Amino acid sequence: MGETRYLTFALGKGRLANKTMELLEKMGITCEEMKDKSSRKLVFVNEEKKFRFFLAKGSDVPTYVEYGAADIGVVGKDTVLEENRRVYEVLDLGFGKCRMCVCGPESARELLLHHERIRVASKYPNIAKDYFYNKKHQTVDIIRLNGSVELGPMVGLSDVIVDIVETGSTLKENGLAVLEEICPLSARMIVNQVSMQMQTERIKELIHDIRGHLQ
Ligand code: PRP
Repeated sequence: MGETRYLTFALGKGRLANKTMELLEKMGITCEEMKDKSSRKLVFVNEEKKFRFFLAKGSDVPTYVEYGAADIGVVGKDTVLEENRRVYEVLDLGFGKCRMCVCGPESARELLLHHERIRVASKYPNIAKDYFYNKKHQTVDIIRLNGSVELGPMVGLSDVIVDIVETGSTLKENGLAVLEEICPLSARMIVNQVSMQMQTERIKELIHDIRGHLQ
């Protein structure tokens, strides 16, 4: 008997969504209308397999999954950690690899060693707080920014930043360096907790198939 209910995926718009669709395509799950780059459409379906995909802002993906608006989400580990939603993280998809780091000018290295009360700018205030308060036991002031975080130490807003480092070229071009590494990051598949109970077989099979195509 064919599936009657859609399995809904929330994908972080951009590179992660493209990579996810490439992976699903290898498994025979395609979505032609999603390939039209000029389209502003946000919701796509594969009628045959009963899959529905929607493109959301990355940081909203865990919210859609927690509330059950999507059964499954694909999003960076940075967002999983920052949002801390009640979802199951079931798979490391291996792409989108980068690192969450404390960065700044070399002169700030000492401030980290001596547990000084420093200012930390970040798009990830929860990750920064957890790292400094719970892991390093260092009291800091966290300043939330929305992007171009490297500016923080360059213009005197903060001593260091907590940010994603991929190639390291943004840091290098701005005279900054990685001072401490917090954790490695990559794309993760997350699942709604009720969907996992109600559609166990279908979701487990999907996870199994994806895992097979990752190796
Ligand atoms: C991200 C991140 C760094 C940069 C790291 O920013 O916040 O700034 O990429 O990449 P690199 O190590 O390869 O240079 P993004 O481009 O997402 O923009 P943002 O500054 O607006 O956050």
